[in-house]
Amino acid sequence: MSTPLDRSIESLARTGMTRFFLRMFDDAPDLLLKNLTVEAIGPDRTFKIGGKWLRNFGSDSFLGLDQHPAVIAAVERGVREWGAHNGTSRAFSQVEPQCEAEAKVAQWLGTEDAVIYPSVTLANMGALPALATRHDVIVLDQYAHNSMEEGMRIAKARGVRTAKFAHNDPADLDRVLRGLRPFRHAIVAIDGVYSMSGQLPPLQDFQRVAQSHDGFLYVDDAHGTGVLGTNGRGTVADALGGYENTLVVGSLSKAVSCLGGFLAGGRDAIEVIKLRSNSLIFGGPVPPPYLVAVCAALDVIMSPEYACLRSTLDANVRRLVDGASNLGYRVLGGHVPIVSVLIGQEEATLRAGRFLFDAGYYVQSVVFPAVPHGSGVLRMQVNANHTPESVDGLVGALAELIKAFPECDHESHHRNSASARREAIPA
Ligand SMILES: Cc1ncc(COP(=O)(O)O)c(C=O)c1O
Repeated sequence: MSTPLDRSIESLARTGMTRFFLRMFDDAPDLLLKNLTVEAIGPDRTFKIGGKWLRNFGSDSFLGLDQHPAVIAAVERGVREWGAHNGTSRAFSQVEPQCEAEAKVAQWLGTEDAVIYPSVTLANMGALPALATRHDVIVLDQYAHNSMEEGMRIAKARGVRTAKFAHNDPADLDRVLRGLRPFRHAIVAIDGVYSMSGQLPPLQDFQRVAQSHDGFLYVDDAHGTGVLGTNGRGTVADALGGYENTLVVGSLSKAVSCLGGFLAGGRDAIEVIKLRSNSLIFGGPVPPPYLVAVCAALDVIMSPEYACLRSTLDANVRRLVDGASNLGYRVLGGHVPIVSVLIGQEEATLRAGRFLFDAGYYVQSVVFPAVPHGSGVLRMQVNANHTPESVDGLVGALAELIKAFPECDHESHHRNSASARREAIPA
């Protein structure tokens, strides 16, 4: 006899996106390439799946620091010195590497202080509600990352008024804020870089509009961390000349190859956020070995070695962007080492990903709902430890793809360029 739990799960399985994905699992199990299990990793960003070695173009570890001897040694040292986990919320205590890692993040960025959460998602879900009261408003770019939207929803449930404004549009931000008047302060939440479209926000214009409404900027620069700006500090400092009236969020799990998300800014702001952020107060911290590793990874990023890693990475990105463009693909992105080519329909996008997989290259087929219907892309993450030969190999496989599936080529050539660019932005 079925229980209420069974019946509840059954009805959830028939709902919205869950139904869509379950049907896809049934209808196209070979095409989906989801829930893959990596059996082993090899040198030069290779890995083994289903007994087959592939070139992995699906890693956000852009600088290849996950394989750096100093970072690996730091994790090992951290385990020996601190054990696997200290097992306590920061509301009670923290280990020294937590303070060292936060000080190092602030030193690297040039902010007064920083706080590290276990992920960027938890940073956004903890900090955004912490920053607003029912006298304030939160406004979000319509294409900002889902985790900020979740943070905004928590704030809304506590009585904060919230709204969205048109993507990268300071005039619309101004219109939305006027409509929300009166309020005490406005939090303007945006991404530092929109990874799929490659677009950067007009930070100076947003800052001007925010200030004119007693507002400040909250910038989730997860994808810019380590790979954009002077010394990899991301988009904010270079665009605004500093961090005044701005809080910046960054990732320690992507280019930094460790674990966590940081929020950085003025000392007073960080102190208050720490006291008001439920995901910090009621949740656990990044385990100590990874905090030790964050320090080691940031030492590499702040050393002369960084210029070398960054120029190898940038050269690999250029090689792929040029190769794919020369083949006639419509390339989206390129500001960060995520290069997407527009394919179009969902099934064509999945088939294209499968074709490259069979040719020995893993890339991600991104389809609705991550992108709008009919605007599927192949997303290729370029890393500093890809060899030029493997980038050339991927370009060769993309050339074969056009021959094998002329309809993909058709999709990317014949869609209206401006509208395709506008559409192919992740939700
Ligand atoms: C802008 C942005 N914010 C947040 C996240 C989530 O980061 P995390 O995995 O640390 O929760 C991502 C992940 O891709 C992101 O791109």
